[in-house]
Amino acid sequence: MFENIAPEHSVALDVIIRARRSVRAFSSTPPSEEAVEAIIQAGLLAPFGALAVAGKPDFRKVFVIRKSSASMEAVANMIKTRMAKQADELEKKVGLVPFVQILKRIGQQGVPVVGSAPYFIVVGERKGMPAIAAQSLSYCLQNMWLKATSLGIGLQLISATSQMDSDPDFCRLLGIPAGEYALDGCSLGYPADNYQPPSVEYPTLTKSVSWL
Ligand SMILES: Cc1cc2nc3c(=O)[nH]c(=O)nc-3n(C[C@H](O)[C@H](O)[C@H](O)COP(=O)(O)O)c2cc1C
Repeated sequence: MFENIAPEHSVALDVIIRARRSVRAFSSTPPSEEAVEAIIQAGLLAPFGALAVAGKPDFRKVFVIRKSSASMEAVANMIKTRMAKQADELEKKVGLVPFVQILKRIGQQGVPVVGSAPYFIVVGERKGMPAIAAQSLSYCLQNMWLKATSLGIGLQLISATSQMDSDPDFCRLLGIPAGEYALDGCSLGYPADNYQPPSVEYPTLTKSVSWL
């Protein structure tokens, strides 16, 4: 096993892992459909909860929504409406904590890059037992993120997508039964000119690892 893997592949993977960042401003030049498909292909090869989706060949679905399309306008509005509703419900329970303030802002203004990036990609993973669809989605998105990075394409996770999994209008637009698929999503596109992500301090081997 692993016969096709040479040391330079490992070095290249390290470079890509270190280069991956959240991109939150996009160029209007769209990546090609071939590039988008290559990114999705990487996601489709991510691991899945075999027991949870046994006997369900359609366990992973991907939806590509293009900028300026009727679908993009519809999904952006649906997310906005859902976030506004959720903010109201949460505010009644926990008050105006920072997370509720962010939801409220999304409810008023929408998710900033849904609609302004060239593509909004939604990934669905069929729910099952054990309930691990969300974890599978994370692996899928991470594979997509690394592949996008290797192509010089930026990706921003859009976590609000996960709140849409039981929204009847959203699921109808995607053509999936409401509530049966966990959802996650991301915006994709080339980084805007001069886009610089904020500096981030990642955990280090020395500070974070204990060998027992
Ligand atoms: C589970 C999860 C959800 C996230 N959701 C969002 C999101 O909705 N929008 C966003 O811009 N970034 C989101 N992020 C990205 C993180 O904010 C980001 O990875 C972190 O700040 C480190 O920055 P970097 O990705 O540039 O290295 C999410 C990250 C994780 C792990």
